[in-house]
Amino acid sequence: TRFDTIITGGRISTASDTFQCDIGIREGRIAALGHDLGIADETIDATGKWVLPGGIDSHVHISQPSGEGVVMADDFESATRSAALGGNTMVLPFCLQESGVPLRESLKDYHAKAEGSCHTDVSFHLIISDPTEQVLGQDLPALVHEGYTSFKVFMTYEGLALSDLELLKVMAVARETRALVMVHAENYDVIRYLTDQLEQAGRTAPFFHATSRPVIAEREATYRAISLAELSEVPLMVVHVSNREAMEEIRRARQKGLRIFGETCPQYLTLTEGDLEGLNMEGAKYVCSPPPRDHESQQACWEGLQQGVFDVFSSDHCPFRYDDPQGKLTPKGRTSFRWVPNGIPGVGARLPILFSEGVVKGRIDINRFVALTATNHARTYGLYPKKGTIAVGADADIAIWDPGAKNRLTHAMLNDGADYTPYEGMELTGWPVLTMLRGQTIMRDGVLTGIRAGAHVARRISDHA
Ligand code: URP
Ligand code: ZN
Ligand code: ZN
Ligand code: ZN
Repeated sequence: TRFDTIITGGRISTASDTFQCDIGIREGRIAALGHDLGIADETIDATGKWVLPGGIDSHVHISQPSGEGVVMADDFESATRSAALGGNTMVLPFCLQESGVPLRESLKDYHAKAEGSCHTDVSFHLIISDPTEQVLGQDLPALVHEGYTSFKVFMTYEGLALSDLELLKVMAVARETRALVMVHAENYDVIRYLTDQLEQAGRTAPFFHATSRPVIAEREATYRAISLAELSEVPLMVVHVSNREAMEEIRRARQKGLRIFGETCPQYLTLTEGDLEGLNMEGAKYVCSPPPRDHESQQACWEGLQQGVFDVFSSDHCPFRYDDPQGKLTPKGRTSFRWVPNGIPGVGARLPILFSEGVVKGRIDINRFVALTATNHARTYGLYPKKGTIAVGADADIAIWDPGAKNRLTHAMLNDGADYTPYEGMELTGWPVLTMLRGQTIMRDGVLTGIRAGAHVARRISDHA
């Protein structure tokens, strides 16, 4: 038996085990695990390195319309380029339903943009902004069958926020189709009220973005979303959780036996609202929702990752250029935080940050790292065991890490379409040195090989449904 590629000598970690052996790869899949596997066209020596499942980032925004005069900094090429440089083999971006546009039409547009451009595999979640009879009765059930098995709903944002009644209607479809609902949980009216108050007081600097979206607004909406999911008897993923109080709502629900899941992101481990206080408009670089909180909240998010309250760690990559009139600082964006587009880049930085701050500093072990960055994403979103693990029969989606590499993080290393990283200057230990997608090396030593073999992956029903 001959292999296309054999990876030798590495230390392999999955979500449950760590072992030393060679990996034989044939036709894009892992075909053998063992020693003395025989001959291959190519041998990759991973001695002294860690061999992990390729990262799956289940929360990224790419080429999404973001309001008047604002353009997202990444297209599918640049976002997946940064993802591959950061050790990822798959990303799950969103298809946003736009008002008056048939959902399928929008989905076709995203597919057209992604086609032939992607360095990593991709699969779309659907954002439901207008749950019409057509969408609820026809489109969603059909699309779930076609492999779009998760929807995101928003409880805030102009044009996106759903009422509780609408949330219940979407959840009813999820119950029927066994799709997984992801929720952006913040209380819209609280935010609108506080934003008006702050503006009337002349408090329009980026810092007040954080003031306008307090923990209470997130905690309340988290509790309400969980309650609606309980009533609807559906599993729920609460995305981008930023603080202890919201985390505790999820913990309580799980202790009751509800299928409530949580996600947190690098910004909630490493940034605080103090970062929004930068000179001039620099604070706009850190404007995202929910906003970064304080050091105690960071500690809470670490505990959530350690204790299993959070199942997934995603980037919520949502990139806008800073020094650009189509980015953070549109003419309107300069007048008030209200108009600064929400979101920060992070698809390339996610894994090195969690590896260094989590594994190297002893907060989580390597198996938990793999679970939080790959395996649980695959299980949650219907990709397992094809994706998210190293096992015979799985896709050969692999990242090889140099656990001792020392780097001072710069935006250039991430090479996304934005013009900054919120994590500039972080001292990181550990870096991915090779990324392999379905057996093909897409990144080696920080350089892309140019292969753009990324494809769309239809998904099965979530393991949680
Ligand atoms: O500020 C954020 N997180 N922007 C991205 C959109 C979202 O709500 O996830
Ligand atoms: Zn061996
Ligand atoms: Zn969101
Ligand atoms: Zn997001």
